[in-house]
Amino acid sequence: MPQIQKALVVGAGTMGHGIAELLAIAGYKVYLNDVAEDLLKNAMEKIKWSLSKLQERGEIKESIDSIMSRITTIVGFPDIIKDVDFAIEASPEKMEIKAEIFSKLSQILSSDAILATNTSSLPISKIAENAKNPQRVVGMHFFNPPVLMPLVEVMKGDKTSDDTAKTVYELAKKLGKQPIMINKDVPGYIVNRILAAINGVACVLVEKGIADYFTIDAVARYKLNFPMGIFELLDYTGIDVAYYVGKSFEEYDKSASNIPLCSIIQKKFESKELGVKTGKGFYEYPQGKYVKPD
Ligand code: 3HC
Repeated sequence: MPQIQKALVVGAGTMGHGIAELLAIAGYKVYLNDVAEDLLKNAMEKIKWSLSKLQERGEIKESIDSIMSRITTIVGFPDIIKDVDFAIEASPEKMEIKAEIFSKLSQILSSDAILATNTSSLPISKIAENAKNPQRVVGMHFFNPPVLMPLVEVMKGDKTSDDTAKTVYELAKKLGKQPIMINKDVPGYIVNRILAAINGVACVLVEKGIADYFTIDAVARYKLNFPMGIFELLDYTGIDVAYYVGKSFEEYDKSASNIPLCSIIQKKFESKELGVKTGKGFYEYPQGKYVKPD
């Protein structure tokens, strides 16, 4: 199995900056990409905050500066990334964006480099069509926030080689995660299919006027033992993400027709109330960051 030395994370948003942080903690040299300097600056501030929390709790021994020095921010794809052997994209959940990234990376990186996608719901095989070497393309799905959530789903596309999937599975272990391997390309992997079904049931209860968000979230927390309420988690992860997951099921997987896109999620998406990231979703976040609802 090839050793991974240098990594590239494409997209410094909610998931991308957390994945870059994890790789840097584990000792890898990381390039963190986005389309503008201010997005990268914001991402580095979030990484610093998160590392300071981990340090407070004694979960990292190395200094914050030393970990952060392994992350180089880059706008676009400059030549310095040529010898990266592992790239993971965490870009917006749109096929055309991922297609462009995979085709660009295929031109720049060696054909042996692994190209992973953190897609929430798009088929790996479809994304891989844009890569020169689809055997080296794989799904590697982290959960928000990546530094705290233990599970990683590794999923093969139709052409992903066993060696690629195994290398990424081992990488997840090196990052301190508990990986699972999914050998069939299923949009939404396992977790997001289950979550979408749970969201759907909760939405129907609201639509029918049986319960409000707050009541359902109380049930989730205090009876089902979820760490967050169902609507609270939608706000935390981003209502746009749930929307795109639903859309992807409609487009790529007819067998998911029993998990329809909930109309409340659709309305919130259309009115750009996307949760924590926009300051308002099902709850309000005037400071633009997550706080437990009262
Ligand atoms: N880095 C480091 N520390 C962090 C952190 C981060 N990114 N985020 C939160 N923390 C810290 C908090 O600061 C706090 O520390 P403190 O007590 O020292 O201040 C500690 O973690 C606990 O946080 P909170 O008190 O705010 O709240 P919780 O106890 O509820 O924990 C949580 C927060 C870990 C996020 C927990 O609520 C949780 O597990 N929620 C569920 C998250 C989840 O299910 N994520 C997956 C979503 S699905 C997904 O991502 C897939 C995608 O494809 C849709």
